[in-house]
Amino acid sequence: MNVDLSTRYLGLTLRNPLIASACPLNQDPEFLLRLENAGAAAAVFPSLFEEQIEFQQQQIFGLYEYGTESFAESLSYFPELEDYNVGPTEYLRRLRAAREAVRFPLIGSLNGMTVGGWIHFARLIEDTGVDALELNVYFVPSDPRHSGEDVEKRYLDLVAAVRKAVRIPLAVKIGPYFTSFGNFARRLADAGADGLTIFNRYIQPDIDLETLDFFPNFSLSESYESRLSMTWIAMLRGRVGAYLAATSGIHDVEDLVKMLLVGADAAMLASAVYRHGPEHFTRLERGLHDWLVAKDYTSVQQMKGSLSRENCPNPEAFERVNYMRSLVAFSGRPI
Ligand SMILES: Cc1cc2nc3c(=O)[nH]c(=O)nc-3n(C[C@H](O)[C@H](O)[C@H](O)COP(=O)(O)O)c2cc1C
Repeated sequence: MNVDLSTRYLGLTLRNPLIASACPLNQDPEFLLRLENAGAAAAVFPSLFEEQIEFQQQQIFGLYEYGTESFAESLSYFPELEDYNVGPTEYLRRLRAAREAVRFPLIGSLNGMTVGGWIHFARLIEDTGVDALELNVYFVPSDPRHSGEDVEKRYLDLVAAVRKAVRIPLAVKIGPYFTSFGNFARRLADAGADGLTIFNRYIQPDIDLETLDFFPNFSLSESYESRLSMTWIAMLRGRVGAYLAATSGIHDVEDLVKMLLVGADAAMLASAVYRHGPEHFTRLERGLHDWLVAKDYTSVQQMKGSLSRENCPNPEAFERVNYMRSLVAFSGRPI
C-alpha cells in the first residue's frame, strides 16, 4: 500500500515528520549525512548561545576581566563555555560547512533570553543558507519580583526582535511553565513565531550529599516525559496559528505516533539518537509506515491531529473531571 509520510513544518515539505533535535552531534557534517541517509527529514544545528556571543564581544572590547553586575552569572561559566563550544565566528563557519554537506533542511538555532546586541546573529545564521531558525528561549524566572506578565513580555519582545531580523521561518522553543500556556502560545504566534517547539527540558539540579552542593545531574530523557508535550499539543492543535513540533521523550514508534495523533507537525529527537545512533531514524520511519498501514491510513496528513482536543471523541480526558476520575479509580494499596 502506498503511504505518504510527508508533512509540512515551518512551510517546508519534509519526507517524514522526524527531525534530529538540536544537540552537538548535529554539528558534524559526517553525522548529518548519516542522519540524512538514515531517513531523518531534517536536523536542527546545536544552538549558538547568547553567552557565547557576549563572551566574544567582551573579549574583543577587553571587558571580560571586569565583568558587570548583570553579567556575573554568565561570567562564572564562560571558562566551561570555551570548552563546550566554539565562538560565534567558528560556529558560523561550521554551520556553513554543514549546510553544504547535506541536502535535507537544516535549521539554525539561537539560544538566548534577552533582547540585546547579539540578535543580529540571527541574520548571520540566516546568511549561511539554513532553511529556518529555531529560537530557544531558556529562561528560568528565578527572581520573585518578576511577574508572569514581565516574563511573558520578555519572550514576546525577544521573538519580535528576532522576527524582525530574519526572513526565514522562525520556530520558538520554550518550556511549559506559563500561567495560561494556550493564550501565551497564541501571542507567540502573533509576535512572529511560525512554529512552536514544545517543550524544552529544563535542568532540575540535584544535591550531592557528600559535597553539599548542587550539581546539574543531567540525564537523557525517557518516553514518559513526552506526555506533557503530548497533552499541550493536543490542546493547541487547530487553535494557534503556528506549526507545532514535539520535543522531549520521543524514543520509539509509539511515542512518535501519539505525537502525530494529537497534532504535532514534526517530532524532534535527541536522547534517542544518543542512545541508538542515527540509524534509529530508519526504524522509526519504517515503524511509522507500518503503523499507518495497519490502521488503514493513507498518509500522515490524514492521521495528524485526529486525537487533538478539538477532534478526539473524549475531550474531557484533558479536563479536571478526568483527574478526579483517575484518582478515584486508582486502586493502589499500601504494602
Ligand atoms: C547533549 C544535549 C545537548 C543539547 N543541546 C541543545 C542545544 O544546543 N539547543 C537546543 O535548543 N536544545 C538542545 N538540546 C535539547 C534537545 O534538542 C531536546 O529538545 C531535548 O533533549 C529533549 O528531547 P529528547 O527527549 O529527545 O532528548 C540538547 C540535548 C542534549 C541531550
